[in-house]
Amino acid sequence: MDYRESVLELIGNTPMVKLRKVVPRGVSDIFVKAEYLNPSGSLKDRIALEMIRDAEARGDLKPGYTIIEASTGNTGTALSFVGTQLGYKVEIYMPEGMTPERIRIMESYGAKVHQVKLEGSIEGSVAGAEVEIDTRVKCLEVERSTPRTWWARQFSNPSNTKAHIKTGREILEQLDGKVDAFVASIGVGGTLYGVAKALRERLPDALIVGAEPASAQYPLSEGYTRVPGTGDDVCGGIIEEMLNSGMVDRVEKVGNREAIAMSDRLVREEGLFCGISSGANVHLAVEVARQLGPGRNVVTVLPDHRDRYLSEKKYTT
Ligand SMILES: Cc1ncc(COP(=O)(O)O)c(C=O)c1O
Repeated sequence: MDYRESVLELIGNTPMVKLRKVVPRGVSDIFVKAEYLNPSGSLKDRIALEMIRDAEARGDLKPGYTIIEASTGNTGTALSFVGTQLGYKVEIYMPEGMTPERIRIMESYGAKVHQVKLEGSIEGSVAGAEVEIDTRVKCLEVERSTPRTWWARQFSNPSNTKAHIKTGREILEQLDGKVDAFVASIGVGGTLYGVAKALRERLPDALIVGAEPASAQYPLSEGYTRVPGTGDDVCGGIIEEMLNSGMVDRVEKVGNREAIAMSDRLVREEGLFCGISSGANVHLAVEVARQLGPGRNVVTVLPDHRDRYLSEKKYTT
């Protein structure tokens, strides 16, 4: 017999695919880890499970508790999936104006979704970081006023990085340790930082490159700026920790158009049904592959599934 005891055992151990069509001749090989094949459709399944299990072990999260989080999509979806599977109530605070399918996916898992009206939003911007400030402030209020509530706090929760150290170890195993560079977009920073930590343990010279815009909220706005890493309750500390660590060699901006165009090519030419940040990652991976030249291996991740962007008008270029 070949089966899993629980759907939660399907989290992680995602397949690695070598790109064939979107990579120009005469550059490094590019490998993508298909994180969109995690059960709820993104790499955030890994951190949801890790954050919940660690909080249970510490005694911060107990039966009967409600899990809360501020999220524009993937972390909320992952917590809705993992949290309800483990018997918790889940309530997600989302900024108004996100695609309806994201809300429906979370509700399908049994979560309650609160749409938060944005007070201090930046005009014309739905680029993740800023719009999530209001929802995180809401989570702080709820956590302080409601007993038996646990706020996952992905922005400053060390279990986030810890989960992605495992992602990094999977990458090393899948490629027999032959990794010359790793590229990933930065949302909260957990993927880039966690994978970088795992790679640098074995490969101190591996090149680590971050991509902006990071969290790939869609449509991506021009001039996207990251969440300031102030390290406080609301704004989180992973990015600050990451930048101070020297673990990341450089961070490069990827334009919206390039990210969308490459994500379209990944779907049409490679058959990889991934989201927009996957396009940003691969676009930058191609640049790095050009710089490094043939005979090297550049690795990146495809963070999420395209299903959550389908109602977007600008879904194709
Ligand atoms: C679609 C998408 N791509 C990339 C990322 C970046 O991942 P991380 O938060 O680990 O930096 C996120 C999360 O913020 C995301 O939702």
